[in-house]
Amino acid sequence: MVVTYTHEPFTDFSIKQNREEFETALRKVKAELGKEYPLVIGGERMTTEEKIVSENPATNEVVGKVSKADQKLAEKAMQSANKAFKTWRKWDPEARANVLFRASAMIKRRKHEFSSWLVYEVGKPWVDADADTAEAIDFLEYYARQMIRLKDGIPINSRPIEHNEFRYIPLGVGVTISPWNLAFAIMAGTTIGPAVAGNTVLLKPASNAPVISYKFVEVLEQAGMPAGVVNFIPGSGSEVGDYLVDHPNTRFINFTGSKEVGLRIHERAAKVQEGQIWLKRVVAEMGGKDTIIVDSDSDLDVATDAIIYSAYGFSGQKCSACSRVVAHEDVYDELLDKVVAKTKEVTVGDPTDYNTYMGPVIDQAGYDKIMRYMDLGKEEGRLMVGGEGEVSKGYFVQPTVFADLDPQARMMQEEIFGPVVAFSKAKDFDEAIDVANNTVYGLTGAVISNNRAHLEQAREEFHVGNLYFNRGCTAAIVGYQPFGGFNMSGTDSKAGGPDYLLHFLQAKTISDQF
Ligand code: NAD
Ligand code: ALA
Repeated sequence: MVVTYTHEPFTDFSIKQNREEFETALRKVKAELGKEYPLVIGGERMTTEEKIVSENPATNEVVGKVSKADQKLAEKAMQSANKAFKTWRKWDPEARANVLFRASAMIKRRKHEFSSWLVYEVGKPWVDADADTAEAIDFLEYYARQMIRLKDGIPINSRPIEHNEFRYIPLGVGVTISPWNLAFAIMAGTTIGPAVAGNTVLLKPASNAPVISYKFVEVLEQAGMPAGVVNFIPGSGSEVGDYLVDHPNTRFINFTGSKEVGLRIHERAAKVQEGQIWLKRVVAEMGGKDTIIVDSDSDLDVATDAIIYSAYGFSGQKCSACSRVVAHEDVYDELLDKVVAKTKEVTVGDPTDYNTYMGPVIDQAGYDKIMRYMDLGKEEGRLMVGGEGEVSKGYFVQPTVFADLDPQARMMQEEIFGPVVAFSKAKDFDEAIDVANNTVYGLTGAVISNNRAHLEQAREEFHVGNLYFNRGCTAAIVGYQPFGGFNMSGTDSKAGGPDYLLHFLQAKTISDQF
């Protein structure tokens, strides 16, 4: 028996002792920057000549140099995972879950240290880094319990002449391909979900965040994960990614990232390769263009706080970020004034400083893309605040508001992945819902309203995987708000939800007649 799951609490940084402990962890990690990290294949450390150099986006200083897998090493990892599957799949699910519980306990003991790696490697301010680490812990705790819940299958009917059984068995070797933005939580969750279900995994993390992934793989080993169950193979998406997606031995792909790469994976995985004896399963969690609707009868201070938090948290680099506000015409101007005023208060700077609300964006490519949208926003709408960037040291972008966008404008349709929010006016609530639904995505959305009938209407008509009332549209918590989107936001899976592990299991019916 395990105790009931509750989520890992966030650190209260208003308490001096917590701030001091975080600063100690930052100093410890700073002293370790610049080291080299190997691949881990079948439990063996392997180094390569070519490295992925992970840089701090706030300073360009080297965080770590990580060996880079090529197709030959990816093949070796596939063979190791194949071998490990033969025994790992037979482990008692509770013993597999216990590996996750031990890993969680180890991470909790070094929580601020893990968060500090996120501060340096992806530029997360303290609060965002702390939430990322808490979510990684939650995935370990939650999926371990979900596996224990599923271990005996689900009761079905039997008859006097037969005993029938319905149980879940793992799939085989899978490939986890993770993004850099929830560099710890998503990487960890999408790796250990399949693994606790009895599969073996080839983990290809994002090239902007390989060090935190290595640190996680180390913990799994210390927690007793057998060699070959999780293989660490950072590498180029197009080289190693394509190779493993195409591989006939790949049984499933667990991808989180952009729509473009997700669609590519979905298409390639559908092609049956020579020697392949199954249809690959693809779980693809992709981008978003997420909207907060603000109704005529609503608390505009609640709306403003929700927009600021959801648009600028981690510099808007969340699939769930609020990048569109659709406001009723009666409150549009007042809301815009409030959001612009609050945007001017947002502090942008060094994420190692406790007082920084918004750190850098991830890299030059991310910066350039956001700046292109700044130019577009000036053409399509009215710049209210922000609009500038700065790259003399690190990649910094001002929090930005554009007003008066046409619902079909590109600023209202395309994922920007930066701290940019576009406002559009609606004449009534029906129109606001129509505009909110008018993208190819369907990830998150929020409605700020005191009108219960409108909230009930949104419950039925606002087509997003995660719908929130009178709060922001980011910050889902594992086990409380299972997370994942509709339409081009993904394959309708729910990370941190009660049916997540079923994506990596197949049901077997056994009928024993006597
Ligand atoms: P990305 O698509 O550029 O990269 C994601 C991963 O795919 C990386 O590990 C990358 O190396 C790999 N990759 C690239 N090309 C590949 C290929 N041809 N084959 C296989 N793998 C390949 O995304 P990103 O920039 O790392 O992350 C940001 C994106 O992720 C945004 O669009 C965001 O909305 C999305 N995201 C979605 C969710 C969700 O739950 N829906 C969560 C986080 C991020
Ligand atoms: N799960 C993350 C959120 O809800 C992406 O913001």
